Amino acid sequence: MNKTVEAFLPSPTASPTAAGRALPHESAHLHVAGQATYIDDLPELAGTLHAALGLSPVAHGRLLSIDVDGLKAQPGVVAVLTARDIPGVNDCGAIVHDDPILADGEVHYLGQPMFVVLSAQRETARRVAAMARDFTTIEALPALLTPEAAHAAQSYVVPPMHMQRGDAAQALAQAPHRLQGRFHLGGQEQFYLEGQIAYAIPKENHGLLVHSSTQHPSEMQHAIAHALNLHAHHVLVECRRMGGGFGGKESQSAVFACVAAMAAYKLQKPVKLRPDRDDDFMITGRRHCFVHDFDIAYDQDGRLLGAKVEMVSRAGFSADLSAPVMTRALCHFDNAYFLPAVDLHGYCARTNTQSNTAFRGFGGPQGALAIEVILDSVARQLGKDPLDVRLANLYGTTDRNTTPYGQLVEDNVLMPLLDQLVGSSDYRARRTEVAAFNASSPVLKKGLALTPLKFGISFNVVHLNQAGALVHIYSDGSILVNHGGTEMGQGLNTKVAQMVAHTLGVKPERVRVTATDTSKVVNTSATAASTGSDLNGKAAADAAMQIRSRLIRMLAERHTLPDEAIHFADDEVRIGEQTLRFEDVVMDAYLARVQLWSDGFYATPKLHWNRDTMQGRPFFYFAYGAAVSEVLVDTLTGEWKLLRADVLHDVGQSINPALDIGQIEGAFIQGMGWLTSEELYWHPQSGKLMTHAPSTYKIPTASDCPADFRFQLFKNQNVEDTIYRSKAVGEPPLLLPFSVFLAIRDAISSMGQHRVDPPLRAPATPEAILDAVDAVKAACAAQP
Ligand code: MTE
Ligand code: MOS
Repeated sequence: MNKTVEAFLPSPTASPTAAGRALPHESAHLHVAGQATYIDDLPELAGTLHAALGLSPVAHGRLLSIDVDGLKAQPGVVAVLTARDIPGVNDCGAIVHDDPILADGEVHYLGQPMFVVLSAQRETARRVAAMARDFTTIEALPALLTPEAAHAAQSYVVPPMHMQRGDAAQALAQAPHRLQGRFHLGGQEQFYLEGQIAYAIPKENHGLLVHSSTQHPSEMQHAIAHALNLHAHHVLVECRRMGGGFGGKESQSAVFACVAAMAAYKLQKPVKLRPDRDDDFMITGRRHCFVHDFDIAYDQDGRLLGAKVEMVSRAGFSADLSAPVMTRALCHFDNAYFLPAVDLHGYCARTNTQSNTAFRGFGGPQGALAIEVILDSVARQLGKDPLDVRLANLYGTTDRNTTPYGQLVEDNVLMPLLDQLVGSSDYRARRTEVAAFNASSPVLKKGLALTPLKFGISFNVVHLNQAGALVHIYSDGSILVNHGGTEMGQGLNTKVAQMVAHTLGVKPERVRVTATDTSKVVNTSATAASTGSDLNGKAAADAAMQIRSRLIRMLAERHTLPDEAIHFADDEVRIGEQTLRFEDVVMDAYLARVQLWSDGFYATPKLHWNRDTMQGRPFFYFAYGAAVSEVLVDTLTGEWKLLRADVLHDVGQSINPALDIGQIEGAFIQGMGWLTSEELYWHPQSGKLMTHAPSTYKIPTASDCPADFRFQLFKNQNVEDTIYRSKAVGEPPLLLPFSVFLAIRDAISSMGQHRVDPPLRAPATPEAILDAVDAVKAACAAQP
């Protein structure tokens, strides 16, 4: 590893206040010691029952009957519940209400929950639930198992979407050069290490406490209340932390939360539902796979003149978040490039498979990878270095700077960022070295690629861009913070604590952040779209600022000094010439009956979006980055290795460089897994997901990190007034490993002297690599 660990350690001379410091994750010491509590670690209450879900054995069918009595008669079974036991609405759909909690009348995919078995022993509940096939009568119906089949049948979960700017048809008709093609890219399982789980505990007078591993406690609260005919105030949802969410617990924690809550409410017993990994795979959805059909007009320099693109995603059986995912895909097709004329169509294909959902990048990566593949092909057709074609198309700063959806790119740092990375990675010289290596190496081939990224930050739905927080200062000077965001390992609580400490001029150790709890901050948005620290950091700083103002007012009056003479810094308060300890000021304020706690609120400004025309300003700002990857491919076996990666990423002014680098590294490797080793396979006849465990679904491991892995944060400040002028970092770096995929494509392309486009699909598994190698060889053999 080539990074300097010292750079992340707090320097001894650094101010004890918190902003910009590379502090460790607030729970790091607990994570490594096994002392961080996840829901399954909570001590179980006496009488706790375990739930297990009985899953549909067919992809589509009429559910004629469930033999509840037969299931109940199995030894150890306490109860069996079905859709009929849901007193309220049998739905947990996030936006469109087409997502039954338990199947009723019809089953829509192999793996859909049909009933729940309860037992005092988890193993008993699971064993009986696994007998679903023997205790249900289902009349099989024809199923649509691929997005292509569903698109051909015009079967969609939401109406098709369209984004247009300029006259793409005319640009294509007059094009000096034209490129047409199709690109397949696969989906991805979130593979959070802590699986889905909910533990529901009945409380007095229709109350429920539900521990849910969720990115969206408020939505769990609402879904449970609707399902049980309760009000929101009856249901308290709590989440201390998740062992990863990655989008998979934004909406899809709901079926587990609702089933556990329903059973707990009905039986008035604590109920825990923790599916095992295979069931988690079979029940929940993941990143949408996409098929892109494109028709591109470009000129002699490789500048794009017009693009007509049809994107088809695998939505699965219900809408879930497929519409906003497609919106983000359409809004990220431009990636870092100015496109004068576009005609983009998005179709969310309804298939009889798991309902696909959020996954880091939320459709953005699927949209942006398409244009990177297109530019790579354009470069090959023109015999140019793909980097030069990319540079020719880059967004400008004074012109060529409006996105296809009408937002002005006002904070463009692409050019200086790429300049710096091209220099620091030695790209040009290495391009020559790679060519020389390949000239003398017939089987092992090297490939090199540089890809940039631009990622829009904010929820496309304007009203979701709000957050609240509570800050309490106790009379001993210790501080407790609660905010609406959730901690999933990304370090949100650490950053929020740092911003509260920064605002009050105190040591970060004074600040403790508590579990997300719907009875504290209400009506929260999902911790998603990378907006966690932007929103909750601002809300918490707002609360801290109000308390600070009250303390200043008290001190200014008491010392007859102007407000400006009072400073909070270094864990102390300076009042003119005098310096007091922070805790003494707090105690004085308490005695003087000054309110030492506050709420805070934030709503992101400047946003507007027209869903029908797909125009507006959906994003407050953009995050940028770029990576250079060099790979070695064995063209006989399809094996490959990432030799070196150089990353330069823009997080604005970093609140915490250690956490930011951690997010960038993690996203790089996670995105690399998506594009190379993580392959989903549904059986073409039964529709069963065959890759439903780590035995058949391969995520990257530590040993897949390259020996030479270089990260740098781009020196920048957000031009918008964000928290500490930082930028969101959760999702954007997932686009960095596009460079790995395109480096593999480059290596394969060298087999045909870069004259033939390798038809490489994603993920670039060894099979996919060999298919592309064969296609290049065949095309070369066919050429005169
Ligand atoms: N990092 C870790 N360790 N675990 C996660 O589950 N989720 C990602 C990203 N980084 C995730 C993560 C996703 S999908 C999002 S949207 C953001 O974190 C959410 O957190 P943030 O908004 O606070 O960045
Ligand atoms: Mo992240 S996919 O927005 O949860």
